[in-house]
Amino acid sequence: MAQVDFVNVDKSYGSFRAVKDVSFTVGDGEFVALVGPSGCGKTTTLNLIAGLLDLTGGEIRVSGKVINDLDPKDRDIAMVFQNYALYPNKTVAQNLGFPLRMRKVAKAEIKDKVEEAARLLDITHLLDRYPRELSGGQQQRVALGRALVRDPQVFLMDEPLSNLDAKLRVQMRAELKRFHQDLNATVIYVTHDQLEAMTMADKMAVMSGGVLQQYDAPERVFEEPANLFVASFVGSPAMNLLPATRVERDGTVFATGEGWELTLSDRNGAAARRSETDAIILGARHSSLALHETETSGAIPARIYTVEPTGDLTYAHVEVGDKTFVISVPPDRRIAADQPVWIGFDQNKLHLFDAKTEQRIAQD
Ligand SMILES: Nc1ncnc2c1ncn2[C@@H]1O[C@H](COP(=O)(O)OP(=O)(O)OP(=O)(O)O)[C@@H](O)[C@H]1O
Ligand SMILES: [Mg+2]
Repeated sequence: MAQVDFVNVDKSYGSFRAVKDVSFTVGDGEFVALVGPSGCGKTTTLNLIAGLLDLTGGEIRVSGKVINDLDPKDRDIAMVFQNYALYPNKTVAQNLGFPLRMRKVAKAEIKDKVEEAARLLDITHLLDRYPRELSGGQQQRVALGRALVRDPQVFLMDEPLSNLDAKLRVQMRAELKRFHQDLNATVIYVTHDQLEAMTMADKMAVMSGGVLQQYDAPERVFEEPANLFVASFVGSPAMNLLPATRVERDGTVFATGEGWELTLSDRNGAAARRSETDAIILGARHSSLALHETETSGAIPARIYTVEPTGDLTYAHVEVGDKTFVISVPPDRRIAADQPVWIGFDQNKLHLFDAKTEQRIAQD
């Protein structure tokens, strides 16, 4: 397996810059998820590694060697596509062996490798079937197996689970994670599903508009989002964001808005002072907020807009001025639309952003 380095990678289609000065390193054996909304440049980035597109600028290195000008077939990289691209007229065994046959590998060796991949992916009993005789999840495993037999330096996967139904996706997610652990493979995995990325990856590369917004372990991305984009993209329901004005009186820092004022803790107050202007944005996840039904000191007034039971948790949609917050409460909580409430903040879990730069303000 191998380390992959992106160094100032740029890609333009004509005058449109789809990937902008992207740099990051995928460690040997790491599983990296490339996430971001539709059109942010994920597939483009993957195709640059695979050699299906030429770079406009920068370098991609595999095991320290620049591969910019290397032919795709010489890159020793296997790609698993969203639609699997299995050959319909070949059996599973023939599909698995095909990449090796193309490379003129000896028959006996092909047989061994195919059997080993089949065993690893638990598809030995399917070797004589045709793709049309397989379920979506089984086809998925064959597609993985076909990448596997090549024993490549790097696996690239572009939304490999997006054609599967929700239940199978959760199951395949676990299988892919296991596959990675067993093989210690270097994997770059594209998804627009942040939950998939959170659950599977060692690191997440969050992209937006062709720009790499943050590259970090999933828990760090979740706990310390680098900017407003990452904060609202990662986590479900999305982080609640509340624009506020920083005000200072007698050494205490407050965040204020239309009809409310929140006294910031010393730590958050110190952070708020570092914002470029007095415009800040408070960020709070649904689970870090308390919903009070009577006026409570330190809590800000709001009104319930609607109540959404989901079984395990109930989501209260709450209006604060012209913003709506989503707050999770236990399912047995009796609350109703239009009820006045007060929102309490866990200041240890409060995020602060500079409204002007949209960057996270670090808290010591
Ligand atoms: N061949 C092309 N010519 C011109 N523009 C392109 C081409 N391919 C992609 N783009 C544009 O580049 C941007 C990035 O596309 P890309 O396919 O990498 O997005 P993506 O992140 O994979 O999105 P999705 O989640 O929808 O698959 C998009 O705005 C897209 O319209
Ligand atoms: Mg894509």
